[in-house]
Amino acid sequence: MVQNWTPNSWRQKPIQQVPDFPDMAALAAAEAQLATYPPLVFAGEARRLKSQLANVSEGKGFLLQGGDCAESFAEHGADTIRDFFRAFLQMAVVLTFGAQQPVVKVGRIAGQFAKPRSSNIEKQGDVELPSYRGDIINGIEFTEKARIPDPERQIMAYRQSAATLNLLRAFAMGGYANLDNVHQWMLGFVKESPQAERYRKLADRISETMDFMKAIGITPESNPSLRETDFFTSHEALLLGYEQALTRVDSTSGDWYATSGHMIWIGDRTRQADHAHIEYCRGIKNPLGLKCGPSLTADGLIELIDLLNPQNEAGRLTLICRFGHDKVAENLPRLIRAVEKEGRKVVWSCDPMHGNTITLNNYKTRPFERILSEVESFFQIHRAEGTHPGGIHIEMTGNDVTECTGGARALSGADLADRYHTHCDPRLNADQALELAFLLAERMKGGRDEKRMVVNG
Ligand code: PEP
Ligand code: CO
Repeated sequence: MVQNWTPNSWRQKPIQQVPDFPDMAALAAAEAQLATYPPLVFAGEARRLKSQLANVSEGKGFLLQGGDCAESFAEHGADTIRDFFRAFLQMAVVLTFGAQQPVVKVGRIAGQFAKPRSSNIEKQGDVELPSYRGDIINGIEFTEKARIPDPERQIMAYRQSAATLNLLRAFAMGGYANLDNVHQWMLGFVKESPQAERYRKLADRISETMDFMKAIGITPESNPSLRETDFFTSHEALLLGYEQALTRVDSTSGDWYATSGHMIWIGDRTRQADHAHIEYCRGIKNPLGLKCGPSLTADGLIELIDLLNPQNEAGRLTLICRFGHDKVAENLPRLIRAVEKEGRKVVWSCDPMHGNTITLNNYKTRPFERILSEVESFFQIHRAEGTHPGGIHIEMTGNDVTECTGGARALSGADLADRYHTHCDPRLNADQALELAFLLAERMKGGRDEKRMVVNG
C-alpha cells in the first residue's frame, strides 16, 4: 500500500488548472453519482498493459499512443471511432514490421475530454470569456453561458466513454482488426498516396511476409492473434474529482486503480512534485505517463520518478517527451543520462506534437516536417545514448481534416480553413499519420541493418 495516500488525499494539496465551478453542491452531487457507476476498465486489463509496457522498457516492444487532442460530444459517432481505429491499426502494422517487435496499442480515447489551458481567459475582439477546458467541463461556443463549468458534463463524458469503449472492444475482438483487413486497407492507402513509390517497397515486403505465413498455414482463421488485438485506452488525468469518483479497489489485489482508462498521464503543466496531480497518481496502480517538457530538470525528473515509481517497477512509468524539434537535442540527453545513472526503468516515448505548434493564418497548426524531425532526433539521440526509443505519442484522427501542414499531399497554410475541426490542438489526418508510420518504419529498419553490418563487419 502507498503510504499516507487515499483517493482524496490530493484535495489537501495545491492544484493547477481547476475550473471555476459556480455550484459546488452540484459538483459534489455529480461526483457522488459517478462514484456509484460501474468501472469503465478493469484492474486486470491495466496490469496486462503494464506488463506489455514492461517489455517495451526492456527494449522488446514499441508503444503507439494516439488519438484526439480532445474528444467532443458533438463528434461522437460510430464512423469517427471506426475511422480512427482503422488508421491506428494500419500504423501499428507498419510499425510492427519496421521495429520487428510487438507494438503496444494505446488510444487517446474513451476519456480524453479535459484540457489544460495556458490562459484562463479567451479574448475575441473586445469580449473576454473563460477559456474552453474540454467538453467534460464547459462548452466550446464563445458565449457566456457555454463557458460556465457544468458538472453534469462529467456524467455525459462517462457515458460517452462507456459507449466508445464498447465499440472499440467489439472492433478489437470481433474480427474487424483481422490482419488481412488491415493489410488491404494499408495497400489501398499506398496506392492512393502521391508518395506511392516510396511506400510501396515496404508495403510489398509486408505482403510477401503475409503470403509466406499463409503458405505455411498461419492464417487469421487458424490463429486468434491474427484476428484479434489488444487495444488500451488512455487520457490525461486532469479533472481529479472525476478520476477520484472512478477510483476503485481491485478485489483481487486490494490495490487502488483508476478505472476511467487503462493508462493515465500527467500533463506538462500539472507535474509539480508537491501538487495535487502527482499526489493522486502516485497512489493508483495503473501504468502512468508523465509529460516531460523543456522546463523539466534532471533532478526534477528523478524526484518525480521517486514519487511515482518508488519500487522501480518496469512498465509503471512512461516518459512522454515533448520538447519541440529544435529543443530535443538540448533537453533529451540530460534526462536520459540521469535516468540511466540512477538505474530507473522507464519507457521513453516521443510526443512530437506539443512542442511544435505554430500559428499560421490565425490557425494553430503543426508542420509535418517538424513533427517528423522531432521523432527522428529522438531516435538518433537514443541510439547515441544506447537506450531504447520506446514509442510515439501523437494527436491524430481517422478523418480527412486539414489541421497540420505538409505531408505527401503538401497541405499549405491556405488549406487549413477547409476542414479544420479540432476542439483543441491540430491533429494529423489519417494520411499524415500513416505516412509518419511509414517514414519511421523505414528508419527503424535502416537502423537495424546498420547494427547488423557493425556486428558482421
Ligand atoms: C496534450 O497532450 O494534449 C497536452 C496538453 O500536452 P502537454 O501537457 O504535454 O502540453
Ligand atoms: Co493537445
